[in-house]
Amino acid sequence: MEKPLPQSGLVGEKPNYGGTGWHVFINLFLSVILLSTATLGALFFHPLLLLLALPSLYFLVKAFLWMKGGMLEEKVKIRDELIKFVHPKEGCRVLDVGTGGGLLAIGFAKALENCEVVGIDVWMKLGGGTTIKTAERNAEIEGVAGKVRFEVGDARKIPYPDGYFDIVCGSFVVHVIRKGRERALREMVRVLKPGGKLALIEPKREAWTKWKVNDELKAMLEELELENVKFHPISISYPRRRNVYLIYGEKAKG
Ligand SMILES: C[S@@+](CC[C@H](N)C(=O)[O-])C[C@H]1O[C@@H](n2cnc3c(N)ncnc32)[C@H](O)[C@@H]1O
Repeated sequence: MEKPLPQSGLVGEKPNYGGTGWHVFINLFLSVILLSTATLGALFFHPLLLLLALPSLYFLVKAFLWMKGGMLEEKVKIRDELIKFVHPKEGCRVLDVGTGGGLLAIGFAKALENCEVVGIDVWMKLGGGTTIKTAERNAEIEGVAGKVRFEVGDARKIPYPDGYFDIVCGSFVVHVIRKGRERALREMVRVLKPGGKLALIEPKREAWTKWKVNDELKAMLEELELENVKFHPISISYPRRRNVYLIYGEKAKG
């Protein structure tokens, strides 16, 4: 990389990289359902059902933590960290898979003068509250509207030829793909050039999507022709202080 990366400062109108509203809603909803079941169950069926009030408290606390905010600043911080780690070169082609509001794609477009940056997503209805229009508006707000494009595209069938990109990245997307997760990873590697870099930010684990950053994942990535695979921890504070992982690998030169 020829020059130091500019920091993605947030001045004036702020971009929308996905709100916390959905997380607040779902946690409050689960809390209310469990509390009602605990109360009614204890009254009409068995007193032990009152124990369900404990997980209800857990979801209530989680809803409160999501409400506290600070997510936008954290998202910008982790995107800067990913871009620094990947060390992109001028002239490179970058793909952001599951781009949502365009977080990483816009970050790369800001960091490089001359680049081809694409963000793809299926923009799921319950996938974080963003649409292709949100991503395009964010690119305008961040001053890179002409330098990045957004397209509808599924991670499991990426609409680009083999070896097209120098960098394929994604944040908080692979763990949400429950059906065809391995296919999605295979596709990401397929569209990378030999020597190209894969960089994903994902939580350490998530029980309900059966996701784990562990030796099994490392072995799977190595089987997909990736070398120098590493998991780099990044500390974030939403909805609580925790480590997420930058999952990194380079496509074998063959
Ligand atoms: C938690 S959001 C993360 C968005 C963005 N990367 C960010 O960090 O702000 C997950 C995104 O993955 C997208 N997604 C889920 N399954 C996908 C798939 N099979 N192909 C492409 N995008 C997908 C959702 O529509 C959603 O926008």
